Amino acid sequence: MKYFVVTYGCQMNVHESEKIAAILENMGYSLAPDRENADIIVFNTCAIREGAEDRVFGNVGNLKRLKKKNKDLIIAVCGCMTQKEQTAQKLMQKFPFVDIVIGTFNIPKLQYYIEAVQKGRQFELLNEGELDEILPYKRTSGDNAWVNIMQGCNNFCTYCIVPYVRGREKSRKEENILKEVKSILDEGKYKKITLLGQNVNSYGKDLTAPVSFAKLLKDICALEGDFSLSFMTSHPKDLTDDVIEVIKSEPKIEKYIHLPAQSGNNRILKLMNRKYTREKYLEIIDKIRKKIPNCRITSDFIVGFPSETEEEFNDTLSLVERVKFDSIFAFMYSPREGTVASQMQDQISEQVKRKRVNKLLQLEKKLQKEG
Ligand code: 5AD
Ligand code: SF4
Repeated sequence: MKYFVVTYGCQMNVHESEKIAAILENMGYSLAPDRENADIIVFNTCAIREGAEDRVFGNVGNLKRLKKKNKDLIIAVCGCMTQKEQTAQKLMQKFPFVDIVIGTFNIPKLQYYIEAVQKGRQFELLNEGELDEILPYKRTSGDNAWVNIMQGCNNFCTYCIVPYVRGREKSRKEENILKEVKSILDEGKYKKITLLGQNVNSYGKDLTAPVSFAKLLKDICALEGDFSLSFMTSHPKDLTDDVIEVIKSEPKIEKYIHLPAQSGNNRILKLMNRKYTREKYLEIIDKIRKKIPNCRITSDFIVGFPSETEEEFNDTLSLVERVKFDSIFAFMYSPREGTVASQMQDQISEQVKRKRVNKLLQLEKKLQKEG
C-alpha cells in the first residue's frame, strides 16, 4: 500500500505534511513515486490567497480519473482551506469522490478517519482539537529539522485568513520543545533547526508559566551539539530588544530575520491592523543593522490593499528602496471571505494590482543588481 502527499503553502504546512507522512507510514503505507501509483492521496492545502485555493480545486478535480481506475483509492483533503466550513462543503459537493475532508485541527486523527473510510464512510470534521505532543514526524527537509513552537495567531491583520483557520495562539510547553530538539540532535542527522510559528515573537505569552521567546532561543542554544538555529515568522510589533540581543550574542543563531512589513504607508498599515508605523518599522531595521551588521533581512509586501492610492503604493516602493532588503516577497491583495478587509470599500482592480506588483518586483530586481 502506497501514499502520496501534495503540499501547498508555507513551511508550517510542509512540516505538517511530515506528520501526515509519519501517520501513514505507521499504518503500513510506504511512499509512492507519484500520485498515479498511490492507494491514498492527501492534499494538504493553503488558504492564504485565492490562487492557492483555485489550484487545489483544479488538482483535486483531476483525481477523478484516478478514482475511476482504482475505486479503492482514498482521497483526503486537509489543511487551512478545508478548515473553512463553506469551502469544505463546496469541495465535498463538487467532488463526491473525495473521501475525507478535514481541517487543520484534525490531522492528528487522520488514521481514525482513514480506517472509517475503509469501512465505507465519507468524512468532514472541523472542530478544534488540542495541540498534540505525541505524534512523530517523517522529516523530509534534508539536514534541516522543522520544529513547531506554537499554533495560531491573535493578530487579526484585516486581510488575513490565518486566525480563522488556525485558531488563537497556543504555545507548546518549553520542556516539550526542548525535548523534541534534543531528540532531533541526538539522531545526529540534522545540522539545522528551524522554529516555526505564525508569530514566533509572542511565543510563551499564553503559557500558565509564561516563557519569553528570547529565553526559548537561549535554552535551545544551550543544548549540546553543533547546529544552527533559525526561526520564522517575526512580527515587527513583537520583535523585542532581548530577541535582537540573543540573535547577536548566540553564535548558533543564524543572522537572519524575516520581518514582513506588508506596506510602507501609515494609513494602509493602520487599515491592515498591523499595529506599527513606517517610522517604527524603520527604527527596528536600523536597530538590527546597528547591532548585527551582517544580519540578512527579508520581507513580505501586499500591494493593492483596498483603497490603496498610487501615492500610498509609492510609500511601499520608497520603503523597499530605503531598507534594501536581502530579498522580498510581493503579493497582490486577495480578498478572503470572512476577513474585515474583504468587506472594505474601494477594492482595487486586478489590473492595477498586477501593475503595482510588477513595479515592486522590478524595483526589487534593480536593487538586487546594484547589490
Ligand atoms: N492577500 C495577499 N497576500 C496575503 N498574505 C496574507 N494574506 C494575504 C492576502 N489576503 C501575505 C502576507 C503574509 C504572507 C505569508 O502572505 O504578506 O506575510
Ligand atoms: Fe496573518 Fe497577521 Fe497573523 Fe501573520 S500576524 S498570520 S499576517 S493575522
